[in-house]
Formats: sequence, structure tokens, C-alpha cells
Amino acid sequence: MHRESRSLLTTPSHWSELRFNIFKADIMADLKTHYMGLELKNPIVIGSCNIVTDIDNLKRLEKAGAAAIVYKSLFEEQIQLENLNLYERNKKYSEQSSEIISLYPISICGTPDINEHLLALKRAKDAVSIPVFASINAVHNETWIEYAKKIEETGVNGLELNFYSIPEKSERGYENIEKTQIKVLKDVKSAVNIPVAVKLTSFHSNPLKHISMLEKAGADGFVLFNRLFQPDIDIHSEEHHFPYTLSTSEDNRLPLRFSGLLYGCTKSSVCANTGIMNGSDVIKMLLAGADCVQIVSTIYLNQIDVVSSILTDIEKWMDSKSYKSIEGFRGKLSKKNSENKLPYHRAQYMDFMMTTSQILKKYKIIN
Ligand SMILES: Cc1cc2nc3c(=O)[nH]c(=O)nc-3n(C[C@H](O)[C@H](O)[C@H](O)COP(=O)(O)O)c2cc1C
Repeated sequence: MHRESRSLLTTPSHWSELRFNIFKADIMADLKTHYMGLELKNPIVIGSCNIVTDIDNLKRLEKAGAAAIVYKSLFEEQIQLENLNLYERNKKYSEQSSEIISLYPISICGTPDINEHLLALKRAKDAVSIPVFASINAVHNETWIEYAKKIEETGVNGLELNFYSIPEKSERGYENIEKTQIKVLKDVKSAVNIPVAVKLTSFHSNPLKHISMLEKAGADGFVLFNRLFQPDIDIHSEEHHFPYTLSTSEDNRLPLRFSGLLYGCTKSSVCANTGIMNGSDVIKMLLAGADCVQIVSTIYLNQIDVVSSILTDIEKWMDSKSYKSIEGFRGKLSKKNSENKLPYHRAQYMDFMMTTSQILKKYKIIN
């Protein structure tokens, strides 16, 4: 039966089914969790991507059981690019006709305009009843603040700052990058009243230190981690290309490790992201200590209904282990709660080195 239909069975002909569902509700695991002070009906948040820009998809995701959605990021560079194109077009027209200048002055046409994005965000928010978070990826400090303020007015439930930074020059020191992010967060936090999460990459000399600094600066949640797109090289054409690579479960070890390290050490929420493909992956993140997860690649690969099957798998697993709620096992295998701390230490590397001969045998390098 469909996840949503439970609450719709109200006619007498459905009474027996209703009784069955009430009985089922009694024994069914409670998947509720919390993220940045909001209660989520389960830990599945749909991460920022192109799928969520379509209203039909949003409704289908909600119907499949998604607990919240992060809308596609508003990219400052994209707005700048669009306005540059608009400016060029208008300049061409205005050179042809002075009348157009008076009707549409270039200074107005060329002003960065985020209204389209704000309108789309508002439509998305109105289309579903689950929480919708917005996401920003800006370049200039003032733009982060301007976008955050305007986005808050759309009524979204929270904001995600997409700190997608790739080192390009050796001159820019780590302190500079990290200080900039902390300043942006502080400024955004003092400009808005909605909760603010930070989506990070793992490229910091000590991500834990950076996370604790961001927490002090007011971060309500951390999304660990963003998956960076990397270029590839086609050796035949001898050119760069940008293949569209989706994640696999192998990619979730990093968020798992950091969720486990952070559990009990931060008051901010932790949302694991990257390579979370199925129910088992979600359970692992919760056992490590994450409050919730974000999924994207698995929706591209397995369609929207994957959300429903992930939830069913979590319920079944909780049932088999007699867990009544997520809090019954969240963080059970975090660093704080594990008797064996080895997985969170460098010793894991030593263990790996010590078993080298077994690994060589497994891959038939030696007999
Ligand atoms: C097509 C596509 C578009 C994406 N767009 C955004 C975006 O606008 N903002 C953002 O923060 N992340 C974006 N992401 C990254 C995802 O939100 C997510 O962090 C990443 O895909 C890792 O999660 P996954 O392993 O479940 O795919 C995008 C990912 C994909 C595949």
C-alpha cells in the first residue's frame, strides 16, 4: 500500500483496512528525527539537484515519503552569466534603437535578477507540505547576504550554504578560505531568522576544527560532504571533458567516518551526504550518529520510488532489531559510544598494513 494512503482511508468500506493500519501503526517503527530544530518524519532529505526544480517531481518525492527537500542552489555565477548575456543582447538592440534605451535602460536590464529563482522557490514551497530548504552558492560576501534575505521572504524552512570551494591557486591560504566561510556564515546568520546549514567539502586540513569554528559562528547543521565534480581527459581527442558521474555506496565511507567522529561533540545537526544509495547505507549513517541523510544519485539511478523502498528497508531492519525509534540506535557505533575506537583512529591504517599479505592473497598477487 502507498505510504500516503494510510491517512486517506476514512470511508466505512475501508474500516477493516483502517483497523489493520492502526494495528500496523502500533508495531511500526517510528522514523522521526530532528534536523536544525525541525522535526522530520524520517531521515530522508532529498539533496539539492535538478530533479527538485520540477513541481511534479517534488510532489512525487513527497508521496514516496521524502521528509524534506533542498531546492537547487542559487548560483551567483549563473546569475552573472545570464545577466551578461542579457546585457550583450540589450546593448546590441540599444545601439539599433535609442527608443529601447528609454524603455529598458541597460543599467536596469543588467542588474543581477534573482526573481525567477525566488518565484520557483516559492512555487516549490507551496507545492508540498514537507519542509523545503533553499541553497545558495555565492561568490561575494554581500551577495550571500542579499540572497539569504530575499530567500527567507519566500517562506522556506531553512537555508543551506553551499561552500563549494576548490583550491585553484597556492597563494590562497587555508586560513583565508576558512575565515571567509566563517565570516559569510556569521553575516548570513545575523541577516536571517531561519536555520542555516553549511554544506562542506572535506578539503580542510582538519575538517573537525573547521566544523567547530562554524558551529561557534552559528551553524545549525552540517551537510557532510558535497561531492565535487572533477574533470577528466579524453586521451583520443586530447581534450578535457566533464563526465556525469554519479555516486556509489563506496563513496559513503567519508561521511560515515565524520558522522561517527562528530556524534556527541556538536550540538548542531549532522546530515550525511554522498554515496547513500539504499536502506542499509542510511542505517549505517544513523548508527554512526548522523541525524539524517541527503540523497541524490540513487534517485537518478533508481527513480523516485527508491525513497519508499529505502524507508521500508529501514522499518524492516528496525523491526528485526526491535528498535522502536531512530534514537534507540542513533550513534550506537559513533566514536563516543564504540567500545572499539579502532575504526576512528589511524590504527585502522596500521591494521590494514598488518593484513597486507591476506589482501595480496585475495587478489592473487601472491599464493
Ligand atoms: C545533477 C546534479 C546537480 C546538483 N546540483 C547541486 C546544487 O545545485 N547544489 C548543491 O549543493 N549540490 C548539488 N549537487 C550535489 C548533490 O546535492 C549531492 O551533494 C551529491 O550528488 C552527493 O550526493 P549523492 O551521492 O547522493 O549524489 C548536484 C548533484 C547532481 C548529481
